[in-house]
Amino acid sequence: MNKVFLNLGRQPLANSFLKNVGKNALQNEIFYNLKICFNIKNYLVSIVKPVNPKKQYTDKYAHRASESRTMRSAFKKVAKKLFKRFKPKKIMEIGSNDGVFLKNFDKKSVVAVEPCKNLARLTKKLFETYAEFWNLKLAKKLLKKKGEIDLIFSANTISHIPNLKETFKGIYNILSRDGVLVIEDPSLLKVLQNNSYDQFYDEHVYVFSSISVNNIIQEYGLRLFDIEHLSTHGGSNRYFICKKNGKHKKSLRLKKAIKNEKSYKLHKIQSYLKFSKRVNSSRKNLFNLIKRLKKNNKKIISYGATYKSTTVFNYCGLNSKLIDYVTDTTLNKQGKYTPGTHIKIISPELGMNNTVDYAFLGAWNFKKEIFKKEKNFLKRGGKFITHVPKVMALSK
Ligand code: TMP
Repeated sequence: MNKVFLNLGRQPLANSFLKNVGKNALQNEIFYNLKICFNIKNYLVSIVKPVNPKKQYTDKYAHRASESRTMRSAFKKVAKKLFKRFKPKKIMEIGSNDGVFLKNFDKKSVVAVEPCKNLARLTKKLFETYAEFWNLKLAKKLLKKKGEIDLIFSANTISHIPNLKETFKGIYNILSRDGVLVIEDPSLLKVLQNNSYDQFYDEHVYVFSSISVNNIIQEYGLRLFDIEHLSTHGGSNRYFICKKNGKHKKSLRLKKAIKNEKSYKLHKIQSYLKFSKRVNSSRKNLFNLIKRLKKNNKKIISYGATYKSTTVFNYCGLNSKLIDYVTDTTLNKQGKYTPGTHIKIISPELGMNNTVDYAFLGAWNFKKEIFKKEKNFLKRGGKFITHVPKVMALSK
């Protein structure tokens, strides 16, 4: 049923930035094979052999959702919108990170589930937080303690959980009769259209489409009734899900989204095989461009130590011989080294100086925000390099 269509090679955990590159640290680096497959029955696209979540979501988890202005305002906006539309009495978030979504509600009405202890610690002071992995056992425990939940929100988390059966069974268990599950995850259609193969990394066990979500949740007594297309994370979908017998009507835009994905042939293996060929070319083009620029004595850095760039660097063979350093605004990434390729990460204040000729857009999904911020770099002739939707150097 599962057909492998893409091999992104030996990869480290995208989130495992190294404190130093001494012998010990390098020996302890975890690698796995990043192969992607397509299920010809339910259309689900997933990593062939997912990494054990206990190795990924530890008390050292680096990503803070509220670091970016784009994300802060996106979460505030959706919180307001969902509250107005569904008027939930009780709200739960699965994968609440640093509370960027839940802090927009009355703290007595919310429950947070966040397995990364360093993050859970941050929100425990603000509202009830469970530092646990989401599963059926936790759902049953919370149901007893809190009763049914009217709105379950989960952004960029469900696609991270290998065991979808436990996930959706747990959700069904605790969701009220007309309750709504809202999940946000990167859009498979966008990945194919943008050749953004870097959406595949260890944490993205699945890259969902509306046709695959529609198929999977049915097995657990749930159904899709609406969808919104978002620009976050380079193109995501917000799926609105309810119980099979819930009162919510299937929207026109959901019907359109499903039709659109089918017209793009997201239900056919051939589309993925073609994508795989484009990804291969993208790798060659990016490597050749950077090699050529380096030969011409250009200084190339990378902008944003993203998880996505872990996939790109390791797949394309971009290391510290080609990329001088990476800049990133996140304090706990600064001073560390990129996973697998061991490129030093420094602050943009230090790194974005007059000596830089080219900056690879690791955080290409924040292109607008970054171009605005770095207008002086562009003005003095600096260029950004991107691989999305194809490999090119950008001067505006
Ligand atoms: P994400 O794509 O996984 O959310 O990560 C974005 C990373 O990019 C995060 O580490 C912060 C970094 N970043 C910058 O360094 N500068 C910026 O201007 C933006 C928007 C992000």
